[in-house]
Amino acid sequence: MAATQEQQLSHVLPLGSRVDARGHLEVGGCDVVELARRFGTPAYVYAEDDLRARARAYVDAMRARHADFDVLFASKAFPCTAAYHLFAAEGISCDVASGGELALALRGGFDPARIYLHGNAKSLAELEQALDAGVGHVVLDSFDDVERLERVAAGRGARQAALIRVTPGVAGRTHAKISTGQADSKFGFGLDDARVAIERLRGSDALELVGLHMHIGSQLLSLDAYRPAVEAIATLGDFPVYNLGGGLGVAYTADQHPPAIEDYVDVQVRAANELLGPGKRLLIEPGRSLAANACVTLYTVETVKRNVSTWVGVDGGMSDNLRPMLYGSIYEALLADRAGAAGSGERCHVAGKHCESGDVIVRDVPLDAPKPGDILVTPATGAYGHAMANNYNGIPRPPVIFCKDGDARVVVRRETYDDLAARDVG
Ligand code: LLP
Repeated sequence: MAATQEQQLSHVLPLGSRVDARGHLEVGGCDVVELARRFGTPAYVYAEDDLRARARAYVDAMRARHADFDVLFASKAFPCTAAYHLFAAEGISCDVASGGELALALRGGFDPARIYLHGNAKSLAELEQALDAGVGHVVLDSFDDVERLERVAAGRGARQAALIRVTPGVAGRTHAKISTGQADSKFGFGLDDARVAIERLRGSDALELVGLHMHIGSQLLSLDAYRPAVEAIATLGDFPVYNLGGGLGVAYTADQHPPAIEDYVDVQVRAANELLGPGKRLLIEPGRSLAANACVTLYTVETVKRNVSTWVGVDGGMSDNLRPMLYGSIYEALLADRAGAAGSGERCHVAGKHCESGDVIVRDVPLDAPKPGDILVTPATGAYGHAMANNYNGIPRPPVIFCKDGDARVVVRRETYDDLAARDVG
C-alpha cells in the first residue's frame, strides 16, 4: 500500500517522502501533521538526507567526469548555520554574496580557504572582512572592485587570489529578474571589459588572477545556453581555473522535468574540456538545485471563503515565500492529512494573510474539502524561501526544521514579537 501511495506523490517533494498508513505526509521520516502540532506553523521542514543526496550527486557527477574540480554551495539559496554546517561536512566549498553570508558561513564551520566572495557592490568593509578571515578567492565584478580589493590586499602585504566574473553575452532562458548572462547586466564584466580587466590584473602585485567566473542565470530548465557561454569566455585567454556558475532549474510542479544533475554536469564539463582545454580546475556553483526540493512549508488553513473562486487563507504568505509575487512562480499545494488524495478536489487559490491582493501563494490547485485547521503543505520551498523571508505586516519569520530518520530538530527558531522590536531603539 505504501508503495502505491508513494507513486502518487509528486517528484517535487523531498526524497524519501511518503504517505503513512493514516494518509499523512511524511518528510524525513516525520509525520508533518505532528510537526505542525509540535513546532507550529508556518514552518520550513527539510529532509536532511535530501540535501546531502543532492550534494553527493553533484560531487559524484563531477568526480566521474573530471579530475580537478570543486562544487560550491551557492549559499544565497539557503543561508543558515545548519545548512553551511551540513554542506561543509559533505566536503563541498561555498560562495557567499555578502559580509553577512560570509559571517554565517564561518559560523557554520566552512574553512575560509574554501569560501568564494561574490558581489556586484562589495563594500570596503566586506573586502576587509573577507581578507581578515582568509577567504580563499574573491570574484571581481567591476573595475571599482579591482581597485578596492587591490588596495586592501596591498595594505596587508599578501597576494589575494581572485577570479573575474564575465557576462558572456549569452543568457539562459528564464525569468528576466534572474537572468544574468546578458551583456546589459549589473553583474560582471562584458567580454571587452573583461579583456581590459585581465590585462590590469596581470600587472598587479597584490592580486593573483587565477581564472574566470560566469553564471548565466537561475532556474534554467534547458542546458542549451551553457556551451555558447563557455565558448564566449574561451576567447579571453587560457586560465587554470574556471567557475561555470550554477543555475540548474528544479521542478516546482509535477509537470516540470528539469535536467538531471548528471546531465547538467556533463554539459558543463564537456564544454569546458573541449573549449577551454583539458586539465583545468572546474568549479560549479549550484544553489537552488541543492536545496529547493528538500523542503516543504507547512501552513495552517485559517479561513475558506467562496466567492467567484474558493480562497483558502493560510497563516503565512509573502513573508515566507516571495517567489510567486516576484517571479510569478507556480507551486503545488496539498493537505498534509489527505496526502494520498493530492491532485483531486475543488479548485482553490491558496492565499496568504498579508494585506495585499497579490499575496497568493498557489492558484488553481485542487484541494480535497479544505477547512480551517487543516495543515497545508507547499513543496519545493527550500531555496530562496527562508533566504528571502521578511516581516511584512509584522509576521514573525518561520522556523527551519531539519528531519532525519523520524527525528526533527529546530535549526532556526521561530521569530518572536520581541525579535520584531529588537532593533527598535527609539
Ligand atoms: N552563482 C552566482 C554568482 C549566482 O548569482 C547565483 C544565483 C548562483 C550561483 C546560484 O544559482 P542557482 O543554482 O541557485 O540557480 N531569488 C531568486 C534567485 C536569484 C539567484 C541569484 N543568483 C529566486 O528565488 O528564484
